[in-house]
Amino acid sequence: MTKYIVQGGKPLFGEVDISGAKNAAVAIIPAALMVDGVCRIENIPQISDVTMSLRILERLGAVIRSINPHTVEIDCTRIHSTRTDYELSRKIRASYYLIGSLLGRFGQAEVAMPGGCNFGGVRPIDQHVKGFTALGAKVVVEGGFIRAFTERGRLKGANIYLDVVSVGATMNIMMAAAMAEGLTVIENCAKEPHIVDLANFLNSMGANIRGAGTDTIKIQGVDRLTGGTYAIIPDQIEAGTYMAAVAATGGQILVKNIIPKHMDCITAKLIEMGVEVEEHEDTLLVRRTGDLQRTNIKTLPYPGFPTDMQPQITAVLSLAKGTSLVTESVWNSRYRYVDELKRMGANIQVDDKTAVVEGVDHLTGAPIQAYDLRAGAACVIAALAAHGESEISGVQYIERGYEDIILKLQALGANIRSVEVDEEDAVSVRIG
Ligand code: EPZ
Repeated sequence: MTKYIVQGGKPLFGEVDISGAKNAAVAIIPAALMVDGVCRIENIPQISDVTMSLRILERLGAVIRSINPHTVEIDCTRIHSTRTDYELSRKIRASYYLIGSLLGRFGQAEVAMPGGCNFGGVRPIDQHVKGFTALGAKVVVEGGFIRAFTERGRLKGANIYLDVVSVGATMNIMMAAAMAEGLTVIENCAKEPHIVDLANFLNSMGANIRGAGTDTIKIQGVDRLTGGTYAIIPDQIEAGTYMAAVAATGGQILVKNIIPKHMDCITAKLIEMGVEVEEHEDTLLVRRTGDLQRTNIKTLPYPGFPTDMQPQITAVLSLAKGTSLVTESVWNSRYRYVDELKRMGANIQVDDKTAVVEGVDHLTGAPIQAYDLRAGAACVIAALAAHGESEISGVQYIERGYEDIILKLQALGANIRSVEVDEEDAVSVRIG
């Protein structure tokens, strides 16, 4: 088991390069399965969810060639199965995108019920199913698999109104419809940057998708997608996490390789909290020298404040002057990490979807546990700012979505390292 050991209390200084977006990559890799040819994907983040997605494709018959650590070529001309590996695909949430891509290209798909981060509450996929059904598929659950198929061999375009704004349903239906017969119109779509990225990827392979990034997406189905080259956008949430880290510790960092427009919803809140943010073409200079001020945050679909930044910003607010209110309005429950922050001295009360954060003067290092990816990021931020040593377990969640987090933080001057511990929790081998 791996743990992170953090000696907190050091301000961060330096530069950090942001990797490709996880939530774009985990959709674009399954979408590559629809391409009858070779597609080269650049700016792929090296994270465990991506490794897993590529492995699932390989088992279906894809030939994958690594060109360099961030570029792969995927050849899906000889897919021999439409049933995904059960053990692999149940490990990641994004395996549900294989339903859209397999169904779109082959008219059938069998994918294990998706797993992924469990931050409490249910994560339904009824809107995905509603979309596939509208396109003419039958969807059943059998033996732990979701089986979707169409008797006519090809889906048929339709008008689909989503009852909730769902990132996953928008992308999944977009994939399925890309090769359906005729026109599909999806209304009440999510507008996250990764939705635009997936549409751009599919269009660059020959699809005809318009309106991604607005709440209505129109997809004219095509017969075939052919190969090409595509570069994934930078990760908005990884960038936001480093911005939150310097807000918590103080110091000054240059966040590189980003699209500043994607960061507006996060930047605006950090500025309200007294953090200085200077915008350049593809970088942000983030500085915090004075006290952190309180603010209120409500998570919303893009362009609102992202739910995937809620734990990290709450960790920062736990050190701000005054009382902040944080409202989670995307997920039913996403506050499991709060107990970990409380172990470090944070004063946070959660009542249903709202956290009341009473800022404290400082946090104190403690043994803490990451229960999911962003909760883990919040633990790291709190530990970096805290007085004394923290030991973070559950870091496999963090490594699902943050490439080289230890090396990137060390380059900013953080005192953080990764250690392997044996069953009795004794530190045995230092690895980072
Ligand atoms: C994506 O999850 C992200 N995951 C999540 O990122 C992110 O928190 C979420 O979007 C919201 O931005 C991936 O991209 C792999 P949704 P997704 O469908 O698509 C309800 C991270 O930390 N809903 O937009 O599964 C649902 O319960 C993660 O990187 C339905 O009711 O989220 C939720 O309340 C974890 N029925 C809301 O919609 C459905 O069929 C938004 O969910 C689908 C969703």
